[in-house]
Parts: sequence; C-alpha cells; structure tokens
Amino acid sequence: MEPFRIHLFVCTQQKPEGAASCAAKGSAAVLDALNREIQVRGLGSDVQITTCGCMGLCEEGPVMVVYPEGAWYRRVQPSDVPEIVTQHLLAGKPVTRLLWDDAAAMKAMSVEHGENFRAAMAAREKAGVLPERLDQMIRGFMPSRCLLTALELDIFTAVGDGANSEQIGARVHANARAVAMLLNALASLGLLAKSGDDYRNTPESARFFVQGSKDNHRNGLLHTANIWHRWSTLTDAVRRGARIPIDGDANPEWTPNFIAGMQRNARDRAPLVVKALGTESVRRILDLGGGSGAYSIAFAKASPAVKCEILDLPEVVPLTAEYVNRAGVSAQVVLRAGHMLHGNLGSGYDIVMLNAICHMFSEKQNMEIFRRARQALAPGGRLVVQDFILNPDKAGPQQAALFSLNMLVGTEEGAAYNESEYTGWMKAAGLNEVRRIKLPGPADLIVGQVRNTP
Ligand SMILES: C[S@@+](CC[C@H](N)C(=O)[O-])C[C@H]1O[C@@H](n2cnc3c(N)ncnc32)[C@H](O)[C@@H]1O
Ligand code: FES
Repeated sequence: MEPFRIHLFVCTQQKPEGAASCAAKGSAAVLDALNREIQVRGLGSDVQITTCGCMGLCEEGPVMVVYPEGAWYRRVQPSDVPEIVTQHLLAGKPVTRLLWDDAAAMKAMSVEHGENFRAAMAAREKAGVLPERLDQMIRGFMPSRCLLTALELDIFTAVGDGANSEQIGARVHANARAVAMLLNALASLGLLAKSGDDYRNTPESARFFVQGSKDNHRNGLLHTANIWHRWSTLTDAVRRGARIPIDGDANPEWTPNFIAGMQRNARDRAPLVVKALGTESVRRILDLGGGSGAYSIAFAKASPAVKCEILDLPEVVPLTAEYVNRAGVSAQVVLRAGHMLHGNLGSGYDIVMLNAICHMFSEKQNMEIFRRARQALAPGGRLVVQDFILNPDKAGPQQAALFSLNMLVGTEEGAAYNESEYTGWMKAAGLNEVRRIKLPGPADLIVGQVRNTP
C-alpha cells in the first residue's frame, strides 16, 4: 500500500571528479526546485520526495523516477520542475519531452554501468588503492582552508556585484596572481561563479559571507578560522597533553570573533533551551560564562518576570553589553565581571546555567563549579548544563569526540564528557532528580534540581 499519492525518487549520487553523475549534472538544484514547488503548491502531504543513489543512467542525469506509474525522467533541469509538477503531479500527464521510456536501452545502460562499476572496484581492491572515503578524509582540509582564507581576506565582500581578479586583489590588498588562483578554486567549489574574467557571488555566498547582508555569518565564522591555527598544533598537543602556545594567541580580534562565533550557535539554540526549561516560577537566573548573552536574552524576552545575571571574564563583559543592549533587554539582564571559580556567586537563583562551559574545564574544576553553583541555587532551583555529550564509551558521537580535541588544542585541561560524568558531578554537588533533556542538534541538557525543602 502506498502511503503517498506520488513518490519521487531523485538521484543525487556524487562520483569522483570527472565521472558523469547526477550530482555533477546539477541534481541538487533540481531537488531544491522540487522541494520549493511542492511547498508552494501545498502538495506536501500528497507527494513524498526521496533522494537516492546511482541508477546506472549517469550520462543521462539528473535522473528522476515518479511512482506509482514508474515514469523515468532524464536530463531534468530546475526550469523543468514547474512543468513536471503542474502537468504530471497535478494533472496526471507525464512531460513527454523529458520521459525516457525505452526500457530495453535503459536496462542495457544500467547493467553495463553495474558491471563496469564492479570491475573497477575489484581492480582497485586488487591493486590496494586507498578507498575514496579515506582519500577524501585526508584531503578534506583543502576546501575548508580555501573558504576560511576567503573569509579572512573578506573576498566575498570584495567581489561585490562582480569583478575581475585584479580588482578583487586590489580591494583585499593581496597578490593578484595568488588571488586569481584562490578565486578559481572558490569557483570550482561552487562558492563563486565565473564568467569570462569576472567572478560573481553565488546566491549562498552573497547571503552568508558578504558584509552588510542580513544573514552574514562571516564574523562568527572567523572564530573557526582562528581555531584552524590551533588545530595545526594537534600533533604536538597530543604529545604534550595540553594546548601549545602559538603566535595567533595575541590576535586582538580573537575574543570578539570568539564571542561572535558563540552567538552564531547560541541564538538558534536559546529558544529551544527556554522551551525545554520553561519560565513558569522562574524569577532569577545566573548565566555563568554567558558570552554573547544569547540565553539570558532569550529568557528575558520570553518572560518580563525573569531577571538574569551574566557572569563573564572582564575582557568579555563589554562585548556582552553590546549584544544585550542591541536586544533591548538591559533592564532585565545585569552583567558581572568575574571568574566562576573564584569569589561569591550570589544566592537564591532559580536556575544556574552552564551553556557550553564545562568542556573548557577539567573534571576537578567542573566539580568545584557544580558545588559553587549548587550553593547559589534557591530551594527547588535547577543547575542546567548544555554541552556536547559523549557516548558512554566516549567513541562518539563524532561531533562530540572531535570537539574534545578542539578543547585539547584550545585549553589546558578541557574535554568533552559523557552523561555519567555529568550525573556523577551533579549528585556529588548535592543535586537530585538529575535528568538529560534531548535537544535538536549536537548538544543536550543535563538538569539537576535542589530538593524543595531547605
Ligand atoms: C564557549 S563560551 C560559551 C558562551 C555562552 N554560554 C554560550 O553558550 O553561547 C564560554 C564562555 O565562558 C567564559 N569564561 C571562560 N572562563 C570563564 C571563567 N573562569 N569565569 C567566567 N566566565 C568564563 C568565556 O569568556 C565565554 O564567554
Ligand atoms: S549518478 Fe544518477 S544515475 Fe548514476
């Protein structure tokens, strides 16, 4: 039985560069156009779109199959999508100019493709060729480094409405020959479009990487560019067991970029945390290491009855103030300069938050922070940790395991931890009813509560 009236399979298979594939022929843009058209026409509950792997017809890609009738389309372009939706999906008449209904030819091509593929795999296996997956993992830094350099140089802003490599080189004060090489690499990665001698931003680059764009992420992404330099020390950091000092540590932009990077993550996650914890009977919140203040800002906006105090390092507090003032919640959010391991944290808070904090510290330091946070809570109050949480054996999830290394190269004693470590520290600090709240995305909450009886 079909749960949907229509089921579309769109091949999005990628192949090594140079080999024909639906991905190389633009299946991503077709998929995008289909999703948009289905949404616009309100067909979401009728039509299911499933991406699929190679169907052996790669030379004819992008390939797409419509079920239940089993109509095969080839060489589909985004501009064909409105016609397919109107004529086929809505009126039941396949678009004949795109249909491929020579079953014998299709089968022959597919079978030949399968045989060639298996023969090539067997030959690679016999010759001991490095699997493509490992090869890509090894070279994965190249596209990343290319994009980070483009962000550091602010290339996308310099491209503006379109320019040649000499103009762009002059705008970013860099060597013209080298800039041309970088621009060509960015074009090969689909981050710029090249026509003649001129380069233009793609819609995505213009939206996310150009200064002045509403959705510009460059400032926050420069933090990732800074982290890159720390990751180059990984081998030595593994030998030493802690971070290795580098020249970039003195970069005056490090802290503003870091806080912008934190804001980039936190502003989307903050409403999820507010929803998970609720604001009912919450009056006072202590936000330890609040950074850009995104979580306090979200609580303040969610309830006029909530008052937040953000404690952060003296060099960060002026930056926090800018974010809080811009959000228009300074009447509800107070800033305190200090160190969460020293001095008086205060008392009587309904919630003490540790968002993206514990990974910076050692087990011993975290236990001390939890003990101090527990003292600051009112009866019935909650200590809330948000962080990447490792599996019990610490060998995953991948993002958390890699983040642990991010802390190795960036801190003296930081690491990612697993749920039983957090739970143990909470219990040792005298918190009860410790539970994990799953959130969408890579980080979860661990919440411990003080008993209601004083
Ligand atoms: C990874 S950021 C997280 C920021 C924020 N909680 C968020 O999730 O967006 C860590 C924050 O802790 C602050 N911090 C680091 N060490 C601290 C300390 N000893 N006392 C107070 N704040 C500290 C940093 O300045 C930074 O703002
Ligand atoms: S890559 Fe799509 S059919 Fe082969």
